Amino acid sequence: MNRAQIGILLGPKGRGSNMRAIAAACSDGRLNADVRVVISPKSDTPGVDWARSNGMNLDIVSPSDEPYGANLLAALDGCDWICLAGYLRLLPGDVLNAFPHRILNIHPALLPKFGGKGMYGMHVHEAVIAAGETESGCTVHYVTEHYDEGEIILQKRYALHPGETPESLAAAVLKLEHEAYVEALQKVIAG
Ligand code: GRF
Repeated sequence: MNRAQIGILLGPKGRGSNMRAIAAACSDGRLNADVRVVISPKSDTPGVDWARSNGMNLDIVSPSDEPYGANLLAALDGCDWICLAGYLRLLPGDVLNAFPHRILNIHPALLPKFGGKGMYGMHVHEAVIAAGETESGCTVHYVTEHYDEGEIILQKRYALHPGETPESLAAAVLKLEHEAYVEALQKVIAG
């Protein structure tokens, strides 16, 4: 079977840990796939540095350069799947239309709770703790024109410990994210 071709979209912070987890799974055979391209809105993030020094095919596509959707599509040429990894915007309609049910996102909470506009990064974990939740986790889902609303592919759950802080929760959930993203990709690629 042909190896699936994955395009990874980083965000402006570009920590890149989910990108690294996906790339590792491609290299060690857990995924029958290649990271065809890493796309970043900025050229000076840790994720971009890692992609560069690890010989990944890298493209900087800035949302302020029009036509943004067409530029993204050109960079994604040859990709079968798109993985959002820290990407914070809604995708342009032409990109959504070109990849129906082929765009995945990971969210650091158990959707549909704690999702939507403004719910990203530490805001999510602070809200989970403030709400007195006893569990959180992460969700891999398909991407639509709305924030965090597409069909759920997979979730991983985490039971909060007494004294859990947003920081400790973020670290625990991030570890789960790396497993969840690879498992979700295994699932969708296998059909
Ligand atoms: C992750 O927490 C993910 O859930 C969210 O953005 C963060 C990206 O982290 N969508 P990283 O850049 O993959 O380390």
